[in-house]
Amino acid sequence: MDNEKVKDHFTNPRNIGDLPDAHGVGTHGDEGCGDYLVMYIKVNRDRIVDIKFKIYGCSTLIATTSMLTEMAKGKTLREAARITGEDVVNALGGLPKDKTHCANLSITALHMTLQDYKKRKSLGWARF
Ligand code: FES
Repeated sequence: MDNEKVKDHFTNPRNIGDLPDAHGVGTHGDEGCGDYLVMYIKVNRDRIVDIKFKIYGCSTLIATTSMLTEMAKGKTLREAARITGEDVVNALGGLPKDKTHCANLSITALHMTLQDYKKRKSLGWARF
């Protein structure tokens, strides 16, 4: 049974949608359950100034990704990279054990997004 915070983030997800001209884009999916998400960030002076996501996934994945984007927004890249699935689960007030992998999927998508940003920056593809 989902708690009120999980239900709130599932029914009213924060930071959902596109982010035109994103500085980093990451995708991640789980072959086991088939759920999938795309994440976008904008960065200024090593800080995440905006973050959005689009998703095809379970209600818990929507809630964990919504919470994660709220936690990551405004953080430096290094701080955001340190957020764990357990941090997200705790911020949501807990999840059933069989749903904690949803938080890890959100975290992996964020890591892929951060890696994409670093790759673009190192290649000089954009000025951030
Ligand atoms: Fe697949 Fe939640 S069941 S991410």
